[in-house]
Amino acid sequence: MFLDTIQVNLIYSTMKRKIKLGVFGFGCVGQGLYSVLHQTKGINAEIKKICIKHPDKKRPIEASFFTTNRDEILNDPEIDVVVELIDEVDAAFEIVSAALKKRKAVVSANKKMIAENFSALLQLQQQYETPFLYEASCCASIPVIRNLEEYYDNDLLTSVEGILNGSTNYILTHIFDNNKAFDEALKDAQRLGYAESDPSLDIKALDPKYKLLIILVHAFGIILKPDDIFNYGIQNLKDADIRHAREKNARIKLIAKCSKIGNKVFAYCMPRFVPVSDTLNKVAYEYNGLLLEGAFSEHQFFMGKGAGGSATGSAVLSDISALTYDYRYEYKKLNQQLNHSYTRDIELEMYVSYNGSGKPITDDFESISVKHESPGFNYLIGKINLLKLAKTKWLEDPMVSIVLTENNI
Ligand SMILES: NC(=O)c1ccc[n+]([C@@H]2O[C@H](COP(=O)([O-])OP(=O)(O)OC[C@H]3O[C@@H](n4cnc5c(N)ncnc54)[C@H](OP(=O)(O)O)[C@@H]3O)[C@@H](O)[C@H]2O)c1
Repeated sequence: MFLDTIQVNLIYSTMKRKIKLGVFGFGCVGQGLYSVLHQTKGINAEIKKICIKHPDKKRPIEASFFTTNRDEILNDPEIDVVVELIDEVDAAFEIVSAALKKRKAVVSANKKMIAENFSALLQLQQQYETPFLYEASCCASIPVIRNLEEYYDNDLLTSVEGILNGSTNYILTHIFDNNKAFDEALKDAQRLGYAESDPSLDIKALDPKYKLLIILVHAFGIILKPDDIFNYGIQNLKDADIRHAREKNARIKLIAKCSKIGNKVFAYCMPRFVPVSDTLNKVAYEYNGLLLEGAFSEHQFFMGKGAGGSATGSAVLSDISALTYDYRYEYKKLNQQLNHSYTRDIELEMYVSYNGSGKPITDDFESISVKHESPGFNYLIGKINLLKLAKTKWLEDPMVSIVLTENNI
């Protein structure tokens, strides 16, 4: 065990030769990494092998790079770093686990795989004393995880909120700014490589929830499972909801947020009305934006491309580069044992549009400040507990859509 550790440390700290990369996946991000790597002079790394799924697909680079046998990478002693960029979750977890067990450092962009298996991946990193970096998984090009780990390495951070999904932000920007129809904007996002292979992960706010789960670990030291966080997407938004937002001089954005009040931490992923004057309104199309709030630093804003091959590839490359100087996540917030506890017991102010009388909806609200009924468009604004909201049956009705108001903590 001790010798192995020395060997791993030697690989990273005294590496004068080129790092050899074994890459899994050569789709949007894999090709982005290839292109970014070949345009970056300052990094001493080269791709040795690429494992893909479909051997007959036409590839833009030499056939000798490719294999469908994952062991050609995992069992190659020359390969120092495994870069996992595939769009399958179970296969990705198998690949990452096998690589860590062989003490090969791993870089991944696969938020779903990481969010669903966080505890197991942490355990593997500790047991095999091997680094696993995943900056690209959160906001593609925005360096959020390393900032949370290194700059916000204390307990002064109070809130992280933002637009973490480039695909839905692209769709909503087109709807609000260019009057595009939802389906047309989604097709564009897919064509440009901003959408996940399964677009419902974006539209139903699962993708930003996976990212939020990763952020929660590095921001507040809390490991949760996907089912622990409430998510609601933009799939049911109607023209009337868009009109309502415009009348209020706002846009609708899909917001992911985690925040701390005392030692209680809450988190959710939902559409919200964002006034045009709000900082997050600057975040358009495939861009992501993050507002961080600290007890003394107040607000800080990060914005950058949240999707696309080159943007994501550049974050993957930055992780590869970080490995050359021995970087690994220390999981500072987890190790500080901050005693934060996660809760869903929080009251939120919400707009709900619906068909019919709205009786089952109104019954669940603690208070209602606005109730509007007109032919074809009914809505209310009121306060509801998130614990109750998560259990309601009316949320499954495609005629219902919910949007947080701007008056929420
Ligand atoms: N696209 C983005 O903007 C973006 C941004 C941030 C993070 N990510 C994440 O990055 C990862 C890759 O996304 P992507 O957009 O590049 O996906 P993609 O374009 O669909 O490409 C997926 C690649 O994975 C390969 N693959 C699938 N299953 C495999 C298996 N079992 N073994 C080996 N190779 C396999 C495919 O092989 P074939 O070529 O043979 O089909 C393909 O090359 C995902 O986890 C995604 O969530 C994407």
